[in-house]
Amino acid sequence: MSAMSNPNELSQRIEHLLAQMSVDQKLGQMIQGERMSVTPDDVANHHLGSVLSGGGSCPGANRPEDWIAMADAYWAASMRDDGRLPIPLIYGVDAIHGHANVLGATVFPHNIGLGAAHDPDLVERVAQATAREILATGVEWTFAPTLAVAQDIHWGRTYESYSSDPALVTSYAGRFVRGLQGDLGQDTVVASVKHWVGDGGTTNGVDQGNTEISEAELRAVHIAPYLEALAAGALTVMASFNSWNGVKCHGHRYLLTEVLKEELGFDGFVISDWDGADYLSPDYSVAIAMAANAGVDMFMVSADWRRCLRTLQELVANGTVPMARVDDAVRRILSVKIRYGLFERPRPAERHWSRAGGFGADAHRAVAREAVRKSLVLLKQEGDILPLSTDATILVAGKNADNRGHQCGGFTVAWQGVSGNDQIIGGTSIWEGIHAVAPQAELSVDGSAADPSRHTVAVVVIGERPYAEGMGDIRVVPQVGTGSARRDGPADARLGQPMGAGSGFGGITTSLPAYGTTLELARLHPEDLATIRRITAQGIPVVTVLISGRPLIVTPEMAESAAFIAAWLPGSEGQGVADVLFGDHPVQGRLSFPWPDDDGATRYPIGYGLSLN
Ligand code: GLC
Repeated sequence: MSAMSNPNELSQRIEHLLAQMSVDQKLGQMIQGERMSVTPDDVANHHLGSVLSGGGSCPGANRPEDWIAMADAYWAASMRDDGRLPIPLIYGVDAIHGHANVLGATVFPHNIGLGAAHDPDLVERVAQATAREILATGVEWTFAPTLAVAQDIHWGRTYESYSSDPALVTSYAGRFVRGLQGDLGQDTVVASVKHWVGDGGTTNGVDQGNTEISEAELRAVHIAPYLEALAAGALTVMASFNSWNGVKCHGHRYLLTEVLKEELGFDGFVISDWDGADYLSPDYSVAIAMAANAGVDMFMVSADWRRCLRTLQELVANGTVPMARVDDAVRRILSVKIRYGLFERPRPAERHWSRAGGFGADAHRAVAREAVRKSLVLLKQEGDILPLSTDATILVAGKNADNRGHQCGGFTVAWQGVSGNDQIIGGTSIWEGIHAVAPQAELSVDGSAADPSRHTVAVVVIGERPYAEGMGDIRVVPQVGTGSARRDGPADARLGQPMGAGSGFGGITTSLPAYGTTLELARLHPEDLATIRRITAQGIPVVTVLISGRPLIVTPEMAESAAFIAAWLPGSEGQGVADVLFGDHPVQGRLSFPWPDDDGATRYPIGYGLSLN
């Protein structure tokens, strides 16, 4: 059970702590700095409430022991008994499909694949395994689950959405939160449901764009899944970059305070997104004040956390941000830390899962492999080409056939994901999974080794390469000035470049380049159709497997294929694809998004998916 299940005891304990805290200590709790700009001494000297790893921001050799050492140092700094009230730090990370930043993690299918599985029980088990692997690195908090109900697959974050159907997202929301948070005991971590609210509803699917819908639709489509998540006890909510009818969520008092906290009774705390408050105004002080007064309780800061802290101190001193608002934010933060038992837990290095290991455990990989199997959607099947025979001389081709990085997608080791096999330690590529059961199979990435005298069938693995957030957008129309302008100057620090010098404001939705300008795979990646045709030209039938973060227009590729499977972003356990290709397990996935046709109409509806008779 949580450390404090009695509301009166909890309240008394919060008030007792609050009464001992200086203004600076209270404001320090409202700051989450990114690890590359925070030292343990900073945590101690400025009473920082949290530190995070942005996508791909990893300590040392990026192994569990490096993470444990890092988390332990920050935690110990926060608990220094140097005359100040020790308040344990909480460390946050994007473990959104496993703790995939870390080398050797079990990487689960991204949410779009879990959606195609239509299996809430499975989703809870995925969350439980993810929690164990987070704990095995000394970390306590993940910015998951994403509850986006993506309405336009041009959006670069479509794959982080379970479905365009709010009912399906709702059926997962509470289960994933329970899988992570459970009884708030030693096997659990803190969840952060995101992004509040309407992230998946922006016009043209532009990341961080403008969600232009009625309140009735906002509630029915985008708020609905949160009801289950909050009922399951989600302890934190992340504010969203998008705007709702032109007003940015980070500064939206109605949404953050009146709806989320007052109407829905959310009693945890709201964390901003990555510098999300900065974009509310060209005047930084005005922006921070807007966010704080709207209901942001903790500020996620990518680099200049000192500026944010200093600005908050000035805003409190001049009354722009009332002390009552600060106390409310800090009460919420303390409430989460107390309910999670953070004050009672040993230091990260001495916790059960830090010592018990289990990172990348076979049991977790088995869950991931099951999820891969259940996520696969058979869109086309001619004759009886499936299941394949393990005795067959199979040609395996395609740029994504032997590329664990590509099958994992974004938020894996690096923010934008990685390519190749060497950084995905453990697990199997799709090729490796096939070859393990069909020893006569041969790999020819471009298909040039196709030989009808040897190869009776080919499996061609095609599709997208990894991306994250705005860099995954398909921008058919250039977007100007409709969303959160990122800082001027070099792109995001997570791309390995220094942050932009000033806080200037560009006029475009994001300074990050989009993935493309069309949903047609043949125009996005013509190499894929070329590979398929190189093989069919030899009279060899092709089973095509599509690796993608969203449905795509694949008319020519599908026409050339005897069978066509949507595999989404399956993660590290590519063997799950072979399990279905060879008939060891049924193909059972069903679309959780409509599949588009050439003319923009729907080619296959939600729920579509063939079975092998
Ligand atoms: C990103 C994302 C958010 C993530 C955060 C920390 O910009 O919008 O989903 O949790 O930053 O990496």
